[in-house]
Amino acid sequence: MADNAEQRIGADSPVVVVANRLPVDQVTDPDGSTRWQRSPGGLVTALEPFVAGRGGAWVGWSGSAGDAAEPFESGGMSLIPVELSEEEVDRYYEGMSNASLWPLYHDVVEKPEYHRNWWDTYVQVNKRFAERAAGVAAEGAIVWVHDYQLQLVPAMLRQQRPDLTIGFFLHIPFPPYELFTQLPWRSAIVEGLLGADLVGFQRPSAAVNFVQLSRRLHDLHCRRDQIEYDGRTVVAKAFPISIDVRAFDELASSPEVLARAREIRAELGNPGKIILGVDRLDYTKGISVRLNAFQELLEDGALEAPDTVLVQVATPSRERVEHYVHMRETIEQQVGHINGVYGSIAGPAVHYFNQSMPREELAALYRAADVMLVTPYRDGMNLVAKEYVAARGDLGGALVLSEFAGAAAELRQAFLVNPHDIASVKNQLVRALRIEPGEAAKRMRSMRRHLFRNDLDHWASSFFEALRGQA
Ligand code: ADP
Ligand code: G6P
Repeated sequence: MADNAEQRIGADSPVVVVANRLPVDQVTDPDGSTRWQRSPGGLVTALEPFVAGRGGAWVGWSGSAGDAAEPFESGGMSLIPVELSEEEVDRYYEGMSNASLWPLYHDVVEKPEYHRNWWDTYVQVNKRFAERAAGVAAEGAIVWVHDYQLQLVPAMLRQQRPDLTIGFFLHIPFPPYELFTQLPWRSAIVEGLLGADLVGFQRPSAAVNFVQLSRRLHDLHCRRDQIEYDGRTVVAKAFPISIDVRAFDELASSPEVLARAREIRAELGNPGKIILGVDRLDYTKGISVRLNAFQELLEDGALEAPDTVLVQVATPSRERVEHYVHMRETIEQQVGHINGVYGSIAGPAVHYFNQSMPREELAALYRAADVMLVTPYRDGMNLVAKEYVAARGDLGGALVLSEFAGAAAELRQAFLVNPHDIASVKNQLVRALRIEPGEAAKRMRSMRRHLFRNDLDHWASSFFEALRGQA
Protein backbone atom coordinates (compact mmCIF):
# COMPACT_ATOMS: atom_id res chain seq x y z
CA MET A 1 0.00 0.00 0.00
CA ALA A 2 2.76 2.43 0.98
CA ASP A 3 4.23 2.10 -2.52
CA ASN A 4 1.03 3.04 -4.20
CA ALA A 5 1.59 6.51 -5.73
CA GLU A 6 -2.00 7.60 -5.32
CA GLN A 7 -1.88 6.71 -1.62
CA ARG A 8 1.04 9.09 -1.19
CA ILE A 9 -0.59 12.14 -2.73
CA GLY A 10 -1.68 14.41 0.07
CA ALA A 11 -0.73 11.87 2.75
CA ASP A 12 0.70 13.34 5.96
CA SER A 13 -0.44 16.86 5.10
CA PRO A 14 0.12 19.41 7.87
CA VAL A 15 -2.87 21.46 6.64
CA VAL A 16 -6.01 19.85 5.25
CA VAL A 17 -9.03 21.69 3.89
CA VAL A 18 -12.30 19.74 3.80
CA ALA A 19 -15.15 21.18 1.71
CA ASN A 20 -18.07 19.65 -0.15
CA ARG A 21 -16.55 20.72 -3.45
CA LEU A 22 -13.04 20.51 -4.78
CA PRO A 23 -11.81 23.77 -6.37
CA VAL A 24 -12.31 22.08 -9.75
CA ASP A 25 -15.31 20.20 -11.17
CA GLN A 26 -15.05 17.17 -13.40
CA VAL A 27 -17.15 17.76 -16.52
CA THR A 28 -17.93 15.33 -19.32
CA ASP A 29 -17.96 16.75 -22.85
CA PRO A 30 -20.44 15.54 -25.54
CA ASP A 31 -17.72 13.25 -27.02
CA GLY A 32 -17.47 11.46 -23.65
CA SER A 33 -14.08 12.89 -22.69
CA THR A 34 -13.68 14.41 -19.23
CA ARG A 35 -11.86 17.53 -18.09
CA TRP A 36 -11.59 19.70 -14.95
CA GLN A 37 -12.91 23.25 -14.71
CA ARG A 38 -13.13 25.78 -11.87
CA SER A 39 -16.04 25.10 -9.47
CA PRO A 40 -18.73 27.75 -8.92
CA GLY A 41 -19.31 29.89 -5.83
CA GLY A 42 -17.69 32.09 -3.24
CA LEU A 43 -16.17 29.30 -1.12
CA VAL A 44 -13.84 28.26 -3.94
CA THR A 45 -13.08 31.89 -4.90
CA ALA A 46 -11.88 32.55 -1.36
CA LEU A 47 -10.15 29.30 -0.45
CA GLU A 48 -8.34 28.38 -3.63
CA PRO A 49 -5.63 31.08 -3.50
CA PHE A 50 -5.15 30.35 0.19
CA VAL A 51 -4.58 26.58 -0.14
CA ALA A 52 -2.63 26.88 -3.41
CA GLY A 53 -0.16 29.21 -1.73
CA ARG A 54 0.53 26.74 1.09
CA GLY A 55 0.70 23.38 -0.65
CA GLY A 56 -2.04 21.85 1.50
CA ALA A 57 -4.43 18.99 0.77
CA TRP A 58 -8.06 19.57 -0.19
CA VAL A 59 -10.64 16.84 0.38
CA GLY A 60 -13.85 17.32 -1.64
CA TRP A 61 -16.37 16.10 -4.20
CA SER A 62 -15.76 16.42 -7.95
CA GLY A 63 -19.29 17.63 -8.73
CA SER A 64 -20.49 14.50 -10.54
CA ALA A 65 -21.97 11.24 -9.30
CA GLY A 66 -20.08 7.96 -9.46
CA ASP A 67 -16.64 6.69 -8.58
CA ALA A 68 -14.12 9.29 -7.48
CA ALA A 69 -11.04 10.09 -9.56
CA GLU A 70 -7.67 9.21 -8.03
CA PRO A 71 -6.01 11.87 -5.85
CA PHE A 72 -3.96 14.27 -7.96
CA GLU A 73 -1.78 17.36 -7.71
CA SER A 74 -3.11 20.61 -9.15
CA GLY A 75 -2.10 24.25 -8.74
CA GLY A 76 0.29 23.36 -5.90
CA MET A 77 -2.39 21.47 -3.94
CA SER A 78 -3.09 17.78 -3.38
CA LEU A 79 -6.70 17.19 -4.37
CA ILE A 80 -8.40 14.21 -2.74
CA PRO A 81 -11.71 13.43 -4.48
CA VAL A 82 -14.54 11.90 -2.42
CA GLU A 83 -17.14 9.83 -4.28
CA LEU A 84 -20.91 10.40 -4.09
CA SER A 85 -23.41 7.96 -5.61
CA GLU A 86 -26.47 9.21 -7.56
CA GLU A 87 -28.60 8.58 -4.48
CA GLU A 88 -26.19 10.49 -2.25
CA VAL A 89 -26.17 13.46 -4.63
CA ASP A 90 -29.95 13.39 -4.53
CA ARG A 91 -30.34 13.10 -0.74
CA TYR A 92 -27.21 14.61 0.80
CA TYR A 93 -26.38 17.39 -1.71
CA GLU A 94 -29.64 18.37 -3.40
CA GLY A 95 -31.85 17.30 -0.48
CA MET A 96 -30.46 17.88 3.01
CA SER A 97 -27.81 20.46 2.04
CA ASN A 98 -29.69 22.51 -0.53
CA ALA A 99 -33.40 21.96 0.12
CA SER A 100 -33.27 21.79 3.97
CA LEU A 101 -30.22 23.62 5.37
CA TRP A 102 -29.65 26.25 2.65
CA PRO A 103 -33.19 27.74 2.84
CA LEU A 104 -33.36 27.35 6.65
CA TYR A 105 -30.07 29.22 7.13
CA HIS A 106 -31.14 31.93 4.65
CA ASP A 107 -34.15 33.20 6.61
CA VAL A 108 -36.48 30.56 5.08
CA VAL A 109 -36.67 32.65 1.89
CA GLU A 110 -38.05 29.37 0.48
CA LYS A 111 -39.67 26.76 2.70
CA PRO A 112 -37.18 24.11 3.83
CA GLU A 113 -38.19 20.47 3.52
CA TYR A 114 -37.17 17.88 6.09
CA HIS A 115 -36.87 14.18 5.21
CA ARG A 116 -35.43 11.47 7.41
CA ASN A 117 -33.75 9.62 4.55
CA TRP A 118 -32.02 12.85 3.47
CA TRP A 119 -30.68 13.21 7.00
CA ASP A 120 -29.48 9.58 7.15
CA THR A 121 -27.53 10.10 3.93
CA TYR A 122 -26.12 13.41 5.24
CA VAL A 123 -24.73 11.51 8.26
CA GLN A 124 -23.30 8.78 6.01
CA VAL A 125 -21.59 11.24 3.64
CA ASN A 126 -20.21 13.37 6.49
CA LYS A 127 -18.68 10.18 7.90
CA ARG A 128 -16.95 9.51 4.56
CA PHE A 129 -15.49 13.03 4.42
CA ALA A 130 -14.25 12.67 8.01
CA GLU A 131 -12.60 9.33 7.20
CA ARG A 132 -10.86 10.73 4.12
CA ALA A 133 -9.58 13.74 6.08
CA ALA A 134 -8.38 11.48 8.93
CA GLY A 135 -6.53 9.41 6.33
CA VAL A 136 -4.47 12.30 4.90
CA ALA A 137 -3.83 14.53 7.93
CA ALA A 138 -0.34 14.30 9.48
CA GLU A 139 0.04 13.78 13.23
CA GLY A 140 -1.02 17.01 14.97
CA ALA A 141 -2.17 18.59 11.67
CA ILE A 142 -4.60 21.45 11.31
CA VAL A 143 -7.82 20.44 9.57
CA TRP A 144 -10.12 23.18 8.36
CA VAL A 145 -13.68 22.05 7.61
CA HIS A 146 -16.00 24.25 5.55
CA ASP A 147 -19.66 25.04 5.27
CA TYR A 148 -23.15 23.73 5.91
CA GLN A 149 -22.78 20.50 3.94
CA LEU A 150 -20.23 19.15 6.45
CA GLN A 151 -21.37 20.27 9.90
CA LEU A 152 -20.99 16.80 11.45
CA VAL A 153 -17.40 16.35 10.27
CA PRO A 154 -15.67 18.18 13.19
CA ALA A 155 -17.06 15.79 15.87
CA MET A 156 -16.58 12.70 13.67
CA LEU A 157 -13.00 13.70 12.97
CA ARG A 158 -12.19 14.41 16.59
CA GLN A 159 -13.43 10.97 17.55
CA GLN A 160 -11.04 9.33 15.08
CA ARG A 161 -8.12 11.73 15.46
CA PRO A 162 -7.97 13.50 18.84
CA ASP A 163 -4.45 14.70 17.95
CA LEU A 164 -5.76 17.14 15.31
CA THR A 165 -6.54 20.83 15.70
CA ILE A 166 -9.91 21.32 14.02
CA GLY A 167 -11.35 24.56 12.67
CA PHE A 168 -14.76 25.01 11.07
CA PHE A 169 -15.93 27.96 8.99
CA LEU A 170 -19.53 28.57 7.94
CA HIS A 171 -19.71 30.56 4.70
CA ILE A 172 -23.43 31.22 4.94
CA PRO A 173 -25.53 32.92 7.65
CA PHE A 174 -26.30 31.07 10.89
CA PRO A 175 -29.95 31.48 11.89
CA PRO A 176 -31.32 32.63 15.24
CA TYR A 177 -32.60 30.12 17.84
CA GLU A 178 -36.24 30.55 16.75
CA LEU A 179 -35.48 29.40 13.18
CA PHE A 180 -32.71 26.88 13.83
CA THR A 181 -34.81 24.90 16.27
CA GLN A 182 -37.20 23.94 13.41
CA LEU A 183 -34.57 21.45 12.38
CA PRO A 184 -35.48 17.92 13.54
CA TRP A 185 -31.74 17.13 13.92
CA ARG A 186 -30.78 20.41 15.62
CA SER A 187 -28.93 18.79 18.54
CA ALA A 188 -26.83 16.58 16.28
CA ILE A 189 -25.75 19.59 14.20
CA VAL A 190 -24.73 21.62 17.26
CA GLU A 191 -22.80 18.64 18.65
CA GLY A 192 -21.15 18.12 15.25
CA LEU A 193 -19.89 21.72 15.19
CA LEU A 194 -18.75 21.57 18.80
CA GLY A 195 -16.25 18.93 17.70
CA ALA A 196 -14.16 21.86 16.37
CA ASP A 197 -11.77 23.95 18.49
CA LEU A 198 -12.82 27.10 16.67
CA VAL A 199 -16.12 27.71 14.86
CA GLY A 200 -15.94 30.72 12.53
CA PHE A 201 -18.85 32.72 11.14
CA GLN A 202 -19.22 35.64 8.72
CA ARG A 203 -20.92 37.96 11.22
CA PRO A 204 -20.70 38.49 15.00
CA SER A 205 -24.49 38.01 15.26
CA ALA A 206 -24.14 34.49 13.81
CA ALA A 207 -21.52 33.59 16.43
CA VAL A 208 -23.85 34.94 19.12
CA ASN A 209 -26.68 32.79 17.71
CA PHE A 210 -24.49 29.71 17.99
CA VAL A 211 -23.36 30.43 21.55
CA GLN A 212 -26.98 31.05 22.53
CA LEU A 213 -28.05 27.74 21.01
CA SER A 214 -25.34 25.88 22.88
CA ARG A 215 -26.55 27.43 26.10
CA ARG A 216 -30.30 27.08 25.56
CA LEU A 217 -30.42 23.76 23.74
CA HIS A 218 -27.58 21.92 25.45
CA ASP A 219 -27.41 23.76 28.75
CA LEU A 220 -23.68 24.36 28.24
CA HIS A 221 -21.67 26.84 30.23
CA CYS A 222 -20.78 29.77 27.95
CA ARG A 223 -18.80 32.96 28.58
CA ARG A 224 -18.79 35.52 25.76
CA ASP A 225 -17.40 33.64 22.73
CA GLN A 226 -16.32 30.55 24.69
CA ILE A 227 -18.35 27.38 25.14
CA GLU A 228 -17.33 24.69 27.66
CA TYR A 229 -17.99 21.32 26.08
CA ASP A 230 -16.77 17.83 26.84
CA GLY A 231 -13.80 19.06 28.91
CA ARG A 232 -12.67 21.49 26.18
CA THR A 233 -13.24 25.14 25.33
CA VAL A 234 -14.74 25.80 21.92
CA VAL A 235 -14.51 29.36 20.58
CA ALA A 236 -17.23 30.79 18.31
CA LYS A 237 -16.22 34.01 16.55
CA ALA A 238 -16.73 36.10 13.42
CA PHE A 239 -14.11 36.19 10.65
CA PRO A 240 -15.63 38.10 7.69
CA ILE A 241 -14.30 36.48 4.53
CA SER A 242 -12.68 38.43 1.70
CA ILE A 243 -11.02 38.06 -1.68
CA ASP A 244 -7.50 38.37 -3.02
CA VAL A 245 -7.99 42.13 -3.45
CA ARG A 246 -4.59 42.91 -4.98
CA ALA A 247 -4.84 40.13 -7.54
CA PHE A 248 -8.31 41.24 -8.60
CA ASP A 249 -7.26 44.89 -8.74
CA GLU A 250 -4.31 43.97 -10.96
CA LEU A 251 -6.40 41.77 -13.22
CA ALA A 252 -9.02 44.50 -13.65
CA SER A 253 -6.46 47.17 -14.53
CA SER A 254 -4.53 45.06 -17.05
CA PRO A 255 -4.50 46.47 -20.62
CA GLU A 256 -6.38 43.38 -21.92
CA VAL A 257 -9.24 43.75 -19.43
CA LEU A 258 -9.48 47.51 -20.01
CA ALA A 259 -9.62 46.97 -23.77
CA ARG A 260 -12.30 44.31 -23.29
CA ALA A 261 -14.31 46.68 -21.05
CA ARG A 262 -14.34 49.27 -23.86
CA GLU A 263 -15.30 46.58 -26.33
CA ILE A 264 -18.20 45.45 -24.10
CA ARG A 265 -19.58 48.98 -23.97
CA ALA A 266 -19.31 49.23 -27.75
CA GLU A 267 -20.94 45.82 -28.28
CA LEU A 268 -23.83 46.94 -26.05
CA GLY A 269 -24.28 49.95 -28.39
CA ASN A 270 -22.44 52.47 -26.17
CA PRO A 271 -25.38 53.01 -23.81
CA GLY A 272 -25.45 56.03 -21.50
CA LYS A 273 -25.50 53.75 -18.42
CA ILE A 274 -24.86 50.06 -17.80
CA ILE A 275 -26.31 48.36 -14.72
CA LEU A 276 -24.78 44.98 -13.88
CA GLY A 277 -25.82 41.92 -11.86
CA VAL A 278 -23.53 38.87 -11.39
CA ASP A 279 -24.74 35.92 -9.33
CA ARG A 280 -25.18 32.21 -9.04
CA LEU A 281 -28.77 31.65 -10.17
CA ASP A 282 -30.08 31.35 -6.60
CA TYR A 283 -33.37 32.50 -5.05
CA THR A 284 -31.49 34.11 -2.14
CA LYS A 285 -29.83 36.59 -4.55
CA GLY A 286 -32.95 38.69 -5.25
CA ILE A 287 -32.55 38.70 -9.04
CA SER A 288 -36.32 39.09 -9.52
CA VAL A 289 -36.35 42.11 -7.23
CA ARG A 290 -33.85 43.97 -9.37
CA LEU A 291 -35.68 43.05 -12.58
CA ASN A 292 -38.91 44.37 -11.04
CA ALA A 293 -37.22 47.60 -9.95
CA PHE A 294 -35.69 48.10 -13.41
CA GLN A 295 -39.03 47.38 -15.09
CA GLU A 296 -40.89 49.88 -12.87
CA LEU A 297 -38.29 52.56 -13.58
CA LEU A 298 -38.79 52.00 -17.31
CA GLU A 299 -42.58 52.16 -16.81
CA ASP A 300 -42.28 55.37 -14.75
CA GLY A 301 -40.12 56.91 -17.47
CA ALA A 302 -37.31 57.50 -14.94
CA LEU A 303 -35.08 55.35 -17.18
CA GLU A 304 -35.13 54.68 -20.90
CA ALA A 305 -33.82 51.67 -22.79
CA PRO A 306 -31.51 51.16 -24.59
CA ASP A 307 -29.94 54.33 -23.22
CA THR A 308 -29.79 52.46 -19.91
CA VAL A 309 -29.38 48.67 -20.03
CA LEU A 310 -29.24 45.96 -17.42
CA VAL A 311 -26.72 43.15 -17.92
CA GLN A 312 -27.47 40.11 -15.75
CA VAL A 313 -25.02 37.21 -15.64
CA ALA A 314 -26.43 34.23 -13.75
CA THR A 315 -24.36 31.06 -13.41
CA PRO A 316 -26.48 27.90 -13.52
CA SER A 317 -26.62 26.36 -10.04
CA ARG A 318 -28.26 23.33 -8.35
CA GLU A 319 -30.38 22.84 -11.43
CA ARG A 320 -32.25 19.77 -10.25
CA VAL A 321 -33.51 21.30 -6.98
CA GLU A 322 -37.16 22.30 -7.40
CA HIS A 323 -36.88 25.81 -5.88
CA TYR A 324 -34.18 26.59 -8.46
CA VAL A 325 -36.18 25.26 -11.41
CA HIS A 326 -39.13 27.53 -10.55
CA MET A 327 -36.95 30.56 -9.95
CA ARG A 328 -35.20 30.18 -13.29
CA GLU A 329 -38.54 30.00 -15.12
CA THR A 330 -39.78 33.13 -13.33
CA ILE A 331 -36.63 35.10 -14.14
CA GLU A 332 -36.59 34.06 -17.78
CA GLN A 333 -40.25 35.08 -18.10
CA GLN A 334 -39.53 38.45 -16.51
CA VAL A 335 -36.59 39.09 -18.85
CA GLY A 336 -38.72 38.08 -21.84
CA HIS A 337 -41.52 40.41 -20.73
CA ILE A 338 -39.25 43.43 -20.15
CA ASN A 339 -37.52 42.95 -23.51
CA GLY A 340 -40.85 42.42 -25.28
CA VAL A 341 -42.17 45.74 -24.01
CA TYR A 342 -39.03 47.91 -23.72
CA GLY A 343 -36.57 46.39 -26.18
CA SER A 344 -36.17 47.81 -29.66
CA ILE A 345 -34.43 47.00 -32.93
CA ALA A 346 -31.49 48.88 -31.43
CA GLY A 347 -31.23 46.21 -28.74
CA PRO A 348 -32.83 44.67 -25.64
CA ALA A 349 -33.26 46.42 -22.31
CA VAL A 350 -31.97 43.39 -20.36
CA HIS A 351 -28.99 41.35 -21.57
CA TYR A 352 -29.37 38.04 -19.75
CA PHE A 353 -26.68 35.32 -19.70
CA ASN A 354 -27.35 32.00 -18.01
CA GLN A 355 -23.65 31.15 -18.15
CA SER A 356 -20.48 30.97 -16.19
CA MET A 357 -17.83 33.42 -17.43
CA PRO A 358 -14.03 33.53 -17.16
CA ARG A 359 -12.69 35.82 -14.44
CA GLU A 360 -11.14 38.16 -17.05
CA GLU A 361 -14.57 38.66 -18.63
CA LEU A 362 -16.18 39.30 -15.23
CA ALA A 363 -13.45 41.82 -14.42
CA ALA A 364 -14.10 43.59 -17.75
CA LEU A 365 -17.85 43.65 -17.03
CA TYR A 366 -17.19 45.16 -13.58
CA ARG A 367 -15.01 47.79 -15.20
CA ALA A 368 -17.61 48.56 -17.87
CA ALA A 369 -20.56 48.86 -15.47
CA ASP A 370 -21.73 52.20 -14.10
CA VAL A 371 -23.77 50.60 -11.34
CA MET A 372 -23.38 47.18 -9.74
CA LEU A 373 -26.66 45.88 -8.37
CA VAL A 374 -26.33 43.32 -5.53
CA THR A 375 -29.71 42.65 -3.91
CA PRO A 376 -29.76 39.37 -1.93
CA TYR A 377 -32.55 38.75 0.59
CA ARG A 378 -29.87 37.16 2.76
CA ASP A 379 -26.23 36.36 2.02
CA GLY A 380 -23.38 35.23 4.30
CA MET A 381 -20.98 37.73 2.70
CA ASN A 382 -21.35 38.25 -1.09
CA LEU A 383 -17.96 38.30 -2.73
CA VAL A 384 -19.31 39.77 -5.98
CA ALA A 385 -19.75 43.10 -4.16
CA LYS A 386 -16.12 42.94 -2.99
CA GLU A 387 -14.87 41.98 -6.46
CA TYR A 388 -16.63 45.00 -7.97
CA VAL A 389 -14.96 47.37 -5.51
CA ALA A 390 -11.57 45.67 -5.99
CA ALA A 391 -11.98 46.05 -9.78
CA ARG A 392 -12.61 49.81 -9.65
CA GLY A 393 -9.06 51.12 -9.34
CA ASP A 394 -10.28 54.01 -11.55
CA LEU A 395 -12.62 55.00 -8.64
CA GLY A 396 -15.51 54.93 -11.11
CA GLY A 397 -18.83 53.14 -10.73
CA ALA A 398 -21.28 52.82 -7.84
CA LEU A 399 -22.42 49.88 -5.76
CA VAL A 400 -26.05 49.26 -4.76
CA LEU A 401 -25.96 46.66 -1.99
CA SER A 402 -28.54 44.83 0.10
CA GLU A 403 -28.46 45.47 3.85
CA PHE A 404 -28.90 41.72 4.25
CA ALA A 405 -25.57 40.78 2.69
CA GLY A 406 -22.69 40.30 5.14
CA ALA A 407 -20.67 42.69 2.94
CA ALA A 408 -22.99 45.58 3.92
CA ALA A 409 -21.40 45.65 7.39
CA GLU A 410 -18.07 46.54 5.74
CA LEU A 411 -18.97 48.44 2.55
CA ARG A 412 -20.85 51.21 4.32
CA GLN A 413 -20.37 53.72 1.48
CA ALA A 414 -22.44 51.62 -0.91
CA PHE A 415 -26.03 52.64 -1.67
CA LEU A 416 -27.66 50.32 0.86
CA VAL A 417 -31.13 48.92 0.12
CA ASN A 418 -33.77 46.74 1.69
CA PRO A 419 -34.56 44.25 -1.11
CA HIS A 420 -38.04 43.65 0.37
CA ASP A 421 -38.82 47.33 -0.24
CA ILE A 422 -38.92 47.87 -4.00
CA ALA A 423 -39.29 51.63 -3.56
CA SER A 424 -35.97 51.69 -1.72
CA VAL A 425 -34.28 49.65 -4.46
CA LYS A 426 -35.62 52.01 -7.19
CA ASN A 427 -34.69 55.10 -5.26
CA GLN A 428 -31.11 54.01 -4.51
CA LEU A 429 -30.61 52.71 -8.05
CA VAL A 430 -31.57 56.10 -9.48
CA ARG A 431 -29.30 57.89 -7.00
CA ALA A 432 -26.42 55.58 -7.94
CA LEU A 433 -27.02 56.18 -11.66
CA ARG A 434 -27.02 59.96 -11.17
CA ILE A 435 -24.11 60.23 -8.75
CA GLU A 436 -21.54 62.97 -9.39
CA PRO A 437 -18.12 61.52 -10.35
CA GLY A 438 -16.43 63.24 -7.37
CA GLU A 439 -18.90 61.76 -4.89
CA ALA A 440 -18.62 58.31 -6.55
CA ALA A 441 -14.82 58.44 -6.28
CA LYS A 442 -15.02 59.40 -2.60
CA ARG A 443 -17.25 56.45 -1.78
CA MET A 444 -15.22 54.01 -3.87
CA ARG A 445 -11.91 55.16 -2.37
CA SER A 446 -13.17 54.61 1.12
CA MET A 447 -14.55 51.11 0.35
CA ARG A 448 -11.29 50.16 -1.38
CA ARG A 449 -9.26 51.33 1.60
CA HIS A 450 -11.28 49.01 3.82
CA LEU A 451 -10.89 46.08 1.40
CA PHE A 452 -7.14 46.42 0.98
CA ARG A 453 -6.76 46.20 4.76
CA ASN A 454 -9.19 43.33 5.07
CA ASP A 455 -8.23 40.97 2.28
CA LEU A 456 -8.13 37.20 1.99
CA ASP A 457 -4.77 36.87 3.73
CA HIS A 458 -6.04 38.87 6.66
CA TRP A 459 -9.10 36.58 6.92
CA ALA A 460 -7.14 33.34 6.72
CA SER A 461 -4.32 34.44 8.98
CA SER A 462 -6.66 35.73 11.68
CA PHE A 463 -8.56 32.44 11.59
CA PHE A 464 -5.34 30.42 11.79
CA GLU A 465 -3.90 32.56 14.54
CA ALA A 466 -7.04 32.07 16.62
CA LEU A 467 -7.01 28.33 15.86
CA ARG A 468 -3.36 27.93 16.84
CA GLY A 469 -4.19 29.75 20.04
CA GLN A 470 -6.65 26.91 20.73
CA ALA A 471 -4.22 24.10 19.94
P1 ADP B 1 -22.05 32.52 -3.62
O1 ADP B 1 -20.90 32.02 -2.83
O2 ADP B 1 -23.36 32.40 -2.93
O3 ADP B 1 -22.11 32.00 -5.00
P2 ADP B 1 -20.56 35.04 -3.73
O4 ADP B 1 -20.96 36.36 -4.29
O5 ADP B 1 -19.96 35.11 -2.37
O6 ADP B 1 -21.84 34.11 -3.77
O7 ADP B 1 -19.48 34.36 -4.66
C1 ADP B 1 -19.75 34.09 -6.01
C2 ADP B 1 -18.44 33.85 -6.74
O8 ADP B 1 -18.75 33.23 -7.99
C3 ADP B 1 -17.70 35.12 -7.07
O9 ADP B 1 -16.31 34.90 -7.00
C4 ADP B 1 -18.13 35.42 -8.51
O10 ADP B 1 -17.15 36.10 -9.28
C5 ADP B 1 -18.32 34.04 -9.06
N1 ADP B 1 -19.38 34.09 -10.10
C6 ADP B 1 -20.64 34.51 -9.95
N2 ADP B 1 -21.29 34.47 -11.14
C7 ADP B 1 -20.41 34.03 -12.03
C8 ADP B 1 -20.46 33.77 -13.44
N3 ADP B 1 -21.57 33.94 -14.16
N4 ADP B 1 -19.34 33.29 -14.03
C9 ADP B 1 -18.22 33.08 -13.31
N5 ADP B 1 -18.11 33.31 -12.00
C10 ADP B 1 -19.19 33.77 -11.36
C1 G6P C 1 -21.99 28.94 -1.76
C2 G6P C 1 -21.77 27.93 -0.67
C3 G6P C 1 -20.67 26.95 -1.06
C4 G6P C 1 -20.99 26.34 -2.42
C5 G6P C 1 -21.24 27.43 -3.46
C6 G6P C 1 -21.65 26.87 -4.82
O1 G6P C 1 -20.84 29.69 -1.89
O2 G6P C 1 -21.44 28.60 0.55
O3 G6P C 1 -20.53 25.93 -0.11
O4 G6P C 1 -19.95 25.50 -2.85
O5 G6P C 1 -22.27 28.29 -3.00
O6 G6P C 1 -22.73 26.02 -4.68
P1 G6P C 1 -22.66 24.49 -5.13
O7 G6P C 1 -23.91 23.88 -4.60
O8 G6P C 1 -22.60 24.55 -6.62
O9 G6P C 1 -21.42 23.89 -4.55
